[in-house]
Amino acid sequence: MRKKIVAGNWKMNKSQYEANKLANELAVVQLAVNVEVIVIPTSIFISEVKSNLQNSSIKLGVQNTAGTDNGAYTGEISAAQIKSAGIEYALVGHSERREYFNESNKDLVQKINQLLAHSITPIYCCGEVLAEREKGNHFNLVKTQIEEGLFHLSETELLNCVIAYEPVWAIGTGVTASSDQAQEMHGFIRSILVEKYGQDIANKISILYGGSCKPSNAQELFANSDVDGGLIGGASLVAESFAAIVNSF
Ligand code: PGA
Repeated sequence: MRKKIVAGNWKMNKSQYEANKLANELAVVQLAVNVEVIVIPTSIFISEVKSNLQNSSIKLGVQNTAGTDNGAYTGEISAAQIKSAGIEYALVGHSERREYFNESNKDLVQKINQLLAHSITPIYCCGEVLAEREKGNHFNLVKTQIEEGLFHLSETELLNCVIAYEPVWAIGTGVTASSDQAQEMHGFIRSILVEKYGQDIANKISILYGGSCKPSNAQELFANSDVDGGLIGGASLVAESFAAIVNSF
């Protein structure tokens, strides 16, 4: 059985007060026990959020990590530092990082390697922009992202990764991929993993869907055989809607 995962990416939202308030609300909300729940706040508040969640089963993740070890890299946060703060997950290659900060698949390989070296689970994001889908190039593009970002990994290393498929045209737009579109791409991603790593390994990798996932569509999306959960942006900023998504399996 693959892990079911719902991760809330708070992005660059919430003041210190608001982040703590949301964490305190999440700490007492009822969440399905068979789902790994992760919150990914702004790094500056992560220790406070973590301590507010200490009595809950919710795990923490960071939104970004450095591709190098500790040293003179102003503004960066290393995997070693993230590990020392007791954080278990890290997003890698979110489309906003790829688009606004020019992160290439090559940069992301460095980040993934750093994270795995420090036993942090990378959540590797992939997905196409609308123009690529309209050209019919979305499968090729996602295949390249997966190959260039992950295929240098050994079987054991890959087993410590999570993949998130996020069609860029669905992120923050209110337009969600249909359940069929999500399953089609998730099934395709798993088939690429099967070719490279074999069925057994591919079956163990959780593939999350992201892009305007909300309480009203989570159940239908999560019902697909290759959709193992969600990476949630906007709807993770309110405890009730995030919990409703977690409880949609
Ligand atoms: P959204 O964001 O749920 O607000 O569309 C998803 C994401 O970017 O991870």
